[in-house]
Amino acid sequence: MNNSKPSKTSGVFGWIDQRLPISATWRSQVSRYPAPKNFNVWYFFGSLAMLVLVMQLATGLFLAIHYQPNPHLAYWSVLRGIQRDSRWGWLIRYMHIVGASAFFLLVYLHMYRAVMYGSYKKPRELLWLVGIFIYLALAAEAFLGYLLPWGQMSYWGSAVVTNFVTALPVIGKPIATWMRGSFVVDLPTLNRFFVFHVFLMPMLLLALVLVHLIALHQVGSNNPDGIEIHDNVNESGWPRDGIPFHPYYTVKDLFGVSVFFVIFFWFVFYNPAGWGLLLDKLNYTPANILHTPADIHPLWFFLPFYAMLRGVPDKLYGIMAFGGSFVLLAFLPLLDRNPIRSIRYRSVLYKFNVLMMAASFLWLGWIAHGFATEHNMVYGLHVTEVFYSTFLVLPFFNRQRTVRAKIIWLVLAEAAVWLIDVWMYSIHAHGWDLMLLTDWIPALYLLVVFGGALAFPALTRDAAKLPERLTAGGIFH
Ligand code: HEM
Repeated sequence: MNNSKPSKTSGVFGWIDQRLPISATWRSQVSRYPAPKNFNVWYFFGSLAMLVLVMQLATGLFLAIHYQPNPHLAYWSVLRGIQRDSRWGWLIRYMHIVGASAFFLLVYLHMYRAVMYGSYKKPRELLWLVGIFIYLALAAEAFLGYLLPWGQMSYWGSAVVTNFVTALPVIGKPIATWMRGSFVVDLPTLNRFFVFHVFLMPMLLLALVLVHLIALHQVGSNNPDGIEIHDNVNESGWPRDGIPFHPYYTVKDLFGVSVFFVIFFWFVFYNPAGWGLLLDKLNYTPANILHTPADIHPLWFFLPFYAMLRGVPDKLYGIMAFGGSFVLLAFLPLLDRNPIRSIRYRSVLYKFNVLMMAASFLWLGWIAHGFATEHNMVYGLHVTEVFYSTFLVLPFFNRQRTVRAKIIWLVLAEAAVWLIDVWMYSIHAHGWDLMLLTDWIPALYLLVVFGGALAFPALTRDAAKLPERLTAGGIFH
C-alpha cells in the first residue's frame, strides 16, 4: 500500500489533508504500521507513560495558574489557594502528585521490559539511549517540582541535593551557589526551579519523547521473543508476524488505560499521599530554614539512588556511584553482546542475573527508606555492589566459557569486590566487624553466578535454537 498517496477526502479535512500529510502519516505510522503480533502486558507501559505525560502537562498548567513562586506565599498558595479555594483544585493537585509517582513506576517497568527482551540491542541502541536521556530529564523534572510547595521536605531535600554538588573538587561550591542563585536555597532558587519545572523541562521531555518515537518507528518494535519480524515478509513486503498497530494495539492499549485509571484514581480519591510514599507527611509543614528535620529523604522513586549516595563512604565517590549507574545503563548494548535478545531463550543464570538487577534495585530502595544508621549505610554499600555486579557480569554471558575462563572470572571478581571494600572501609570509620558481617552479600552473589557456572555448566546454556516465527502471543503470555 502506498502510504504517501494524496488524500481522497473532501471538505475541510480534505483541503487541510492535501496541504498537511495527516492521513498519510496516520496510515504509515499507525493504521499500516506493522507491529509484532505477540505484544504482552509489558508493552502497555510505553503508551501509558505517554498518557501520564499529557496528564502531567494538563494538570501542571492549571496548578501553575494558581501557584505563587515566592517563599512567603508558595506553601499557602498550594495548601489553601489550590487545595481549598480553587474549584477542583484538590483534584488537579492530587492527580499531579499521583501522576508523578505513576510516571516513574511506568517508566521503570518500561525500562525493565526493554532489559528483559533485549530491546537495547542492535538496531535499537539509539532508541535506548534516548530513553536514558528521557529518564534523566524526568528525574530533573521531579526534583525541580518537589521544591515548589515549599514544605519542610521540599526545602531540605533540595538543600541536601544542591549540597551534594559541593563534593566536586574546586568547581563544586561555585556550581552549587550558581544552581541555587544564592548561598542557601531561597527566593532565587524557587524562581528558577519554577521556571525550569513548568517551561524548560516539559519542552525537553516532549522533544525527547518525539525523538524516541521517531527512532522506534525507524527500526520497528522488538517483541517478547526478540525475533525481528521484518526478516520474514510476504510477497507484498508485509511482515508475516506483523499486525497493523491500529486497530489491534489501539484497542489493547485502551484496555490498559482503563485498568490503569482504576488504580490511578483509587489513589487520587482515596489515598493521594500513598501512605506517605507519594507525598511526604513532613511536607504538610511549611519550610523552616532554621529547623533541619531529623530524617531527610526523597520520594520512593529516588530511594535506590539515595541508598548509593548514603552507602558509599565519601560524598564524591557516592556521586560517582550514583552517576555511574546511568553510565552502566547507557553502556548496556556494549556490555551484553550476546546475539539472543529475549530473556526467554537465555540461560538460567542470565535470567537469575536480570532478576537480581531488579531485586537489588528494590532492596536499595528499601534500605534508603530506613533511617541513616550505620547498619543501613553499610548495607547500602554492599547492595550497590550487587547492583553494579549485575551489569558488570553481563560480558561473561556473551558466549560459552571454558572452565579456565570461569575460574578467572570468579577469582578476579571476588578479588575486586574485596579490594573495593577494604578501600571503602579504610576511608570511613565503619566498624570492621560490621564490614566482615555484611561483605558476604556481593561476595555470595558473585560466587553464585561464577561458581554456579563452574559447578553446573548447563545453567549457562542458552537455547540451542531460536524459533523462526513468533511464538503464540496474547495479552497475558
Ligand atoms: C516519558 C517516558 C517515555 C515514554 C512516553 C516512552 C514511550 C514509548 C513508547 C510509546 C514505546 C512503544 C510502545 C512500547 O514499546 O511500550 C516505547 C518503546 C521503547 N522505549 Fe520508551 N518511553 C519512555 C521512556 C523510556 C525510557 C526511560 C527508556 C529506557 C531507558 C525507554 C526505552 C524504550 C525502548 C528500548 C523501546 C522499544 C521497546 C521494544 O520495541 O521492545 N523508553 N517507548
